[in-house]
Amino acid sequence: MSAQFACAVTDVAVSGTRRVELEGTRGTVEVAVVRDANGDLHAINDVCSHGAVSLSDGDVDGTTLECWLHGSVFDLSTGKPLSLPATEPVPVYPLTVVGESVFVDVDAPKEN
Ligand code: FES
Repeated sequence: MSAQFACAVTDVAVSGTRRVELEGTRGTVEVAVVRDANGDLHAINDVCSHGAVSLSDGDVDGTTLECWLHGSVFDLSTGKPLSLPATEPVPVYPLTVVGESVFVDVDAPKEN
């Protein structure tokens, strides 16, 4: 499967998130589409690598996303945790904007 429609650009406010479910070749993938403080869009797996809660319920700070449960901070470009307790990265996905639409390819996570 290739990039698929995730949401409209206007669905995601600056420093905001939007949770979407996309169908990958291995099943449904929960994705947080996030607009960082600079206005750039990112697609990161919505499941925290520490406690399996929804990262889209967390807080965007600059170019990072903070898990609401225990406070691990994830880099939105790489998915890597920048603070404990999470130690494993969260997958991030290629995102493209075509017109007013956001497309994400959940079958091609970025190598970081
Ligand atoms: S569940 Fe996200 S840091 Fe613990």
